[in-house]
Amino acid sequence: MIDSSPLSSLPPGYRAAVVGASGAIGGAVAAVLEADPNCAEALLFQRGGPLRIDIGDEASVAAAAEAAGEIDLLFIATGALHVEVAGQADRRPPEKALSQLDPVALAASFQVNAIGPALVIKHFAPRLPRQRRAILAALSARVGSIGDNRLGGWHGYRAAKAALNQILRGAAIELKRRRPLAVVAAVHPGTVESGLSRPFRPEGVSVEGVFSPDESAAKLLDVLNGLTPEQSGGFWDYAGREIPW
Ligand SMILES: NC(=O)c1ccc[n+]([C@@H]2O[C@H](COP(=O)([O-])OP(=O)(O)OC[C@H]3O[C@@H](n4cnc5c(N)ncnc54)[C@H](OP(=O)(O)O)[C@@H]3O)[C@@H](O)[C@H]2O)c1
Repeated sequence: MIDSSPLSSLPPGYRAAVVGASGAIGGAVAAVLEADPNCAEALLFQRGGPLRIDIGDEASVAAAAEAAGEIDLLFIATGALHVEVAGQADRRPPEKALSQLDPVALAASFQVNAIGPALVIKHFAPRLPRQRRAILAALSARVGSIGDNRLGGWHGYRAAKAALNQILRGAAIELKRRRPLAVVAAVHPGTVESGLSRPFRPEGVSVEGVFSPDESAAKLLDVLNGLTPEQSGGFWDYAGREIPW
């Protein structure tokens, strides 16, 4: 164990995979792992990279998991608020009202925020070791909390993240049987400067309470490092506070 490692709870020479390493938060997590002396290998999967993954294509997900081999940490950093719809140049913004619900945009949000990560979990979870600590985390969002929903709106994104949370909870229960030391977590990164949050931030103005991707990545990895197997299956924010489902 290397105490200075941000992931000192993982075994020396651990191997990690980041899915969505081209994203703002995924890229920042990848940079921390690459700089960590405790990390023997960080596999950075992205749509446009040499380690290619398209979470909308199960064959691509399966091939990526096959290439990864055994990993001690899986960090799923994919997702979208403004969703891509096949055949359309512009992304669809989140709904402000029920009247804007559209089945095509809803399906696209579920695809990228819930179904894609579910397939990543399906194919990568068997790659986690059985008899030592392992971490499986996915970027959810506080707005995916049903208990915390006081504003309404963003119906598709909220519902897709709630679905992701349920998948993660079920994964934690199933993994506990054969991988009792594994920790599964849904994590909220805070509001983070990225392409995803840009439409909701004033141009060129630094806003209090908005993290840089590096700040968010450091906080999230610190939270994950401290979670115990007994806490597996929870929903946590960047400060280690539990979020209601
Ligand atoms: N930023 C925030 O304030 C905030 C707040 C709460 C939760 N989150 C969550 O954090 C996660 C990451 O957000 P971010 O701010 O880092 O956004 P981002 O910079 O837009 O990153 C999104 C990532 O998802 C990838 N992706 C999308 N569709 C994909 C597909 N079919 N196959 C593979 N990769 C795909 C993107 O890949 P490409 O580069 O190929 O498009 C990109 O790497 C999301 O799940 C988001 O919901 C963010």
